[in-house]
Amino acid sequence: MAKAARKSRPRVVKTVKALREALSEWRKRKQTIALVPTMGALHTGHISLVALAKKSAKKVVVSIFVNPTQFGPNEDFTRYPRTLDADLDKLADAGADLVFLPDAKEMYPDGFSTMLKPSGPAAVGLDDKFRPGHFDGVATVVAKLFTSVMPDIAIFGDKDYQQLQVIRTMARDLHLPVKVIGAPIVREKDGLALSSRNVYLSPADRAAAPVLHRVLKESAKAIAAGEPVEAVLSRGRAKIMAEGFKLDYLEARDAATLAKLGDEPQRKPKVRLLVAAKIGKTRLIDNFAV
Ligand code: PAF
Repeated sequence: MAKAARKSRPRVVKTVKALREALSEWRKRKQTIALVPTMGALHTGHISLVALAKKSAKKVVVSIFVNPTQFGPNEDFTRYPRTLDADLDKLADAGADLVFLPDAKEMYPDGFSTMLKPSGPAAVGLDDKFRPGHFDGVATVVAKLFTSVMPDIAIFGDKDYQQLQVIRTMARDLHLPVKVIGAPIVREKDGLALSSRNVYLSPADRAAAPVLHRVLKESAKAIAAGEPVEAVLSRGRAKIMAEGFKLDYLEARDAATLAKLGDEPQRKPKVRLLVAAKIGKTRLIDNFAV
């Protein structure tokens, strides 16, 4: 069977000036704009964000920038997968309209001296505890992307659930006129959440990795059935560690604020289970609604 012809690649702009010029035409025509911020190494999960963006707005901008300020000194900034050619082909097929591809100098020119320091959901003892400064970098770069693109909506994966709540709070606190939308996690058949970092997994680590989703699902079911939360989580933690993971956390939190669950019976927040654990050199995160 003949292969379908690839659509042409979206236009790529590398500076905020060129970006704003490109966007001004769409604005003049009153076309709505959706932004999908990424660090590249695009997989089906990212493409699902672009698909949702296309349904939600007339024009879709995808940013690709491996943001140095959100990586700690011992993290994987230099080895983070960079696959620009393949990314642009995927974005052509997905129908993205424009790619913003700044370099570090464009985002952080000499003399750059204004970093955001989010608290609230960015300071609840989850990823913030294990990746100090990470959410300062995320909030800062996303605020810069928002003020550069000024999108009507911006779409992020639910997979980085704490990040999503940090960004929602940041946009609200800074009165940024953008609707932040979370999109469902895309999973492999065996439940592993898609992530650009899955390429680091050895075959043995890959075989063990679905335990995270399995434990989240079982724990959500047990908690919803009324089992005591701490007992359920202890059981889940043991199962994850038995597969060879070094566990950072498995927690049940208020889905909106990410605060610890209180004892007040009258307050019944929606609950989200969140997990982070390392196997080999790879740190994976995942989450699930109760
Ligand atoms: O989720 C990501 O890929 C990044 O954290 C983001 C939101 C693009 C900011 O660099």
